[in-house]
Amino acid sequence: MFAHRIKNLPPYLFARIDEMKAKKRSEGVDVIDLGVGDPDLPTPSHIVDALVEAAKNPDNHHYPSYLGMPAYREAVASWYKNRFGVEVNPENEVISLMGSKDGVAHIPEVLVSPGDYVLVPSPGYPVYSTGTLFAEGRVHEMPLTGENGFLPDLDAIPKNVANQARLMWINYPNNPTSSIAPPSFYQEVVEYAREHEIVVVSDNAYSEISFDGYRAPSFLETDGAGEVGIEMHSLSKTYNMTGWRIGMAVGNPDIIRGLGIVKTNIDSGVFNPVQYAAAAALTGPQDCVADACRIYQERRDVLVGGLRRLGFDITAPKATFYVWLRVPDSMTFAAKMLDEAGIVVTPGIGFGRAGEGYVRFAITRSVDRIREAISRMEEVSW
Ligand SMILES: Cc1ncc(COP(=O)(O)O)c(C=O)c1O
Repeated sequence: MFAHRIKNLPPYLFARIDEMKAKKRSEGVDVIDLGVGDPDLPTPSHIVDALVEAAKNPDNHHYPSYLGMPAYREAVASWYKNRFGVEVNPENEVISLMGSKDGVAHIPEVLVSPGDYVLVPSPGYPVYSTGTLFAEGRVHEMPLTGENGFLPDLDAIPKNVANQARLMWINYPNNPTSSIAPPSFYQEVVEYAREHEIVVVSDNAYSEISFDGYRAPSFLETDGAGEVGIEMHSLSKTYNMTGWRIGMAVGNPDIIRGLGIVKTNIDSGVFNPVQYAAAAALTGPQDCVADACRIYQERRDVLVGGLRRLGFDITAPKATFYVWLRVPDSMTFAAKMLDEAGIVVTPGIGFGRAGEGYVRFAITRSVDRIREAISRMEEVSW
């Protein structure tokens, strides 16, 4: 019944974990879910207020603009200028997205013809691959390994693949490894993209969640980046707005135009009150972001400290709300965590073959729940 596009999709491991979690809960287990990358913190109230106000105005009840309303695109441009020192023209270098997932899933439609390669980090956000498969492209995995600081080794990409590649994904701060990229890596990516005529898309969804004074850059700060690529961003993680579905793509005007063409034929934009609220988030006070980072940092310290006491060798991440732990076998470890400690973690294999040998903890639960998770783990023999 289904088209080959759907039939060829890899099995969605996360659905299986959800089933296992639901089963445990039905058995009465108080499950601690460190699996989901969805902030438990609320959206700051000044953002909610802006939504409510805008929702009361009937002018905002119509179809929104396809590309995002000027007030939102201007807010995005001013945020890029203030935060990264990057100048983008709100008229043709910014487009609204229904969350960055919208852009991630649809950009292959713009760039990839059947049989073209897409260079995808492994482990990585699964939609890089599924979007490629929907466009009938071929996925070439770029392994992110501890030995390489979880950066892809561009020299290891075979020449024939590079020559047929249309698109390269980069994602720092990284989900799921929580690693960060030095500016020199971005420079290397720009040179590689120029040489092989590949479009680079930087997924920067986690740039604002960082610790110990680290501030993540934008790929677009790199010399020449605006010629070869774009960046996707989202309000989901920065302002605890995962349910609101709003993000942006920014950068090279030709690529942004292409994305606009595809999206105009697929969706009808983001509800205007959500765009007004997002503009209020981007242009308003930013202490809510610093407050959230302080909360995540405390949780990170409790989790990393606890794991070290348990004998695990773990580096404290500088960014994202994930902790990437080396384990012998990711499915066995995750199953044992659920069965013996009632804790959900995500097996690395779910993020691609090179994710095997790790599990991901999401610190999207309170510090008390993380302490409880550690004390439960203390009762299990590892
Ligand atoms: C790396 C990465 N990119 C993109 C997204 C999509 O987020 P959203 O669509 O909420 O902006 C996620 C969500 O978890 C993610 O982890």
